[in-house]
Amino acid sequence: MASIKLKTNVNRLNGEVVIPGDKSISHRSVMFGAIAHGETTITNFLPGEDCLSTISCFRKLGVRIEEEENGKIRIYGAGFEGLSEPKEVLDVGNSGTTIRLLMGILAGRPFFSTLVGDESIGKRPMTRVTVPLKQMGVKIDARENGAYTPIAIRGGNLSPINYELPVASAQVKSALILAGLQADGITTILEPASTRDHTERMIRQFGGEIAKDNQTITVQGGQRLTAQDIHVPGDISSAAFFLAAGAIVPNSEIVLKNVGLNPTRTGMIEVLKNMGAELEIISNKENSFEPSGDLIIKASNLKGTVIAGDIIPTLIDEIPIIALMATQAEGTTIIKDAEELKVKETNRIDTVVEELRKLGASIEATADGMIINGKSKLTGGTVSSHGDHRIGMMLAIAALISDGEVILENPESISVSYPNFFTHLNQLIQ
Ligand code: S3P
Repeated sequence: MASIKLKTNVNRLNGEVVIPGDKSISHRSVMFGAIAHGETTITNFLPGEDCLSTISCFRKLGVRIEEEENGKIRIYGAGFEGLSEPKEVLDVGNSGTTIRLLMGILAGRPFFSTLVGDESIGKRPMTRVTVPLKQMGVKIDARENGAYTPIAIRGGNLSPINYELPVASAQVKSALILAGLQADGITTILEPASTRDHTERMIRQFGGEIAKDNQTITVQGGQRLTAQDIHVPGDISSAAFFLAAGAIVPNSEIVLKNVGLNPTRTGMIEVLKNMGAELEIISNKENSFEPSGDLIIKASNLKGTVIAGDIIPTLIDEIPIIALMATQAEGTTIIKDAEELKVKETNRIDTVVEELRKLGASIEATADGMIINGKSKLTGGTVSSHGDHRIGMMLAIAALISDGEVILENPESISVSYPNFFTHLNQLIQ
């Protein structure tokens, strides 16, 4: 396990960053390219470890996928029927999106497959997917009675279900939609709160139909999807680190280009506004598939806020970096209704609190979130990503405003979602 010395005591960040492709959309573009008929091309695909795991799994399922020189991905899809029984175990690495959505796809395939991942994946709950899939008629088993990897699936004929999701999770919703596309009839899914809708948008983009009425989604099985040219917008969850950095490092001004602005993902923008950040949004009106635009953030006098309820799924991955921002805001910030943080790549309530405390922040864990008191001066220390990409990036931003030496253990995990993160950050440091 490597460690690196982070840049500290930075006076100013200035410049422009073209934000790399969205992780959630990159995964789905490969999956839909594989289950559609014809040649799908993907531009601005995110070459992060997680999305590469998705490509590797689909190659093992017999799908021809080419990576062209300019980073373009070409997928030769032959429908769900074009997938074949893998000779090897499907290894999803660190990727929860890969494993959960893949389970939905494999549920309808008449063959046997096994799914494994890294140590973190081995701790993440899978019952939320295995239970409804079993109800649809899939033979599926996993360690601890269906709860954890390794998972073995023998797919086949699927019956549609009418299912109320016990947690607001786009991964679970998407797995059931992908199984529903292969079921004999109409599947209905009720979400407790709106979550990212990239799967629904992708179905429509590939010529299929899916309906949403309030929180109820209905999808008809047996639809034929047609190959598309997909352009992936930048990932707002990656932009979030520079939004926070621009707001908390004195005298900064950063332009973030090509940021996905899908309204089911923009909770962080609302929080920035509520905290008093100087943020300008220039939206690009042309892309109706997935809206995007440029963001300009300036050093800001932030104030504490309360983050709770239905906004949580729209900023769930941004909570670690929001917690850091809150350490630099006047007053108290309360984050609640976010128990899902406990089952991310790490328990992000514990890892955020533990690591920010090492740097001198005043932050405490609660049962479903955290309470942060600002504004505190951050000091030096040795911190760890715990193998969690978003914790690693949050700590690199925290170091910028720390006045002692900061060593980050296990920075490699950042390549899961943002392989160029340090190159982009270093270009902004003045
Ligand atoms: C994702 C959904 C979210 C998010 C994850 C990506 C997706 O997870 O945290 O990073 O691509 O559908 P949950 O569905 O578990 O909330």
